[in-house]
Amino acid sequence: MSELRVLLTRDQIANRVLEIGKQITRDFQGKSIVFIGVLKGAAIFLGDLARHVDLDASFDFIGVSSYGNRPSPTQELRSGWDSTGEVRLTKDVDQSLRDKNVILVEDILDTGLTLTYLKKILVARQPSTLKIAALLDKPSRRKQAIEADYVGFKIPDEFVVGYGLDYAERYRNLPDICIIPRD
Ligand code: IMP
Ligand code: MG
Repeated sequence: MSELRVLLTRDQIANRVLEIGKQITRDFQGKSIVFIGVLKGAAIFLGDLARHVDLDASFDFIGVSSYGNRPSPTQELRSGWDSTGEVRLTKDVDQSLRDKNVILVEDILDTGLTLTYLKKILVARQPSTLKIAALLDKPSRRKQAIEADYVGFKIPDEFVVGYGLDYAERYRNLPDICIIPRD
């Protein structure tokens, strides 16, 4: 595989995550919040973000897997991967969300299919508020009209890894966010 190219440095990420943390602190002043991270990609973002939020907070995690014919990792890299939009929960949250202030934390908003599904099932649990924080956003790939309330960076249609994001389960531990060249 050809060389990874840095798109966002660890310093750029840290500065932006700090800003989002301050924003959430302001927006929810005096309230308690529940962060729900989408496994596994959001784990690192959630950990950093939550430490910049000066509020009473708890963590939870939700796991999803998409149906459809997932291509090989190489194919996914070249042309992206469009699931059928049918998503299956592999791990549910551990608590009732009723009347809670929920912030759903995701690594990247791509086609929007995953977050559209998750939003629908979480809204049904009647939280007081449901906001979405996505570290990255690829607006050009959107198939469902969904936007995050807090976005770290809008990025072009490139396949990226690092800071929690993977390619075939690798590279999640890279401190910078890097582009995998498609050739
Ligand atoms: P969506 O349902 O298409 O919005 O899918 C979002 C999910 O696709 C993310 O949670 C990631 O797991 C994965 N994904 C989309 N783009 C990338 C990428 O550039 N790198 C790594 N994973 C990605
Ligand atoms: Mg993911």
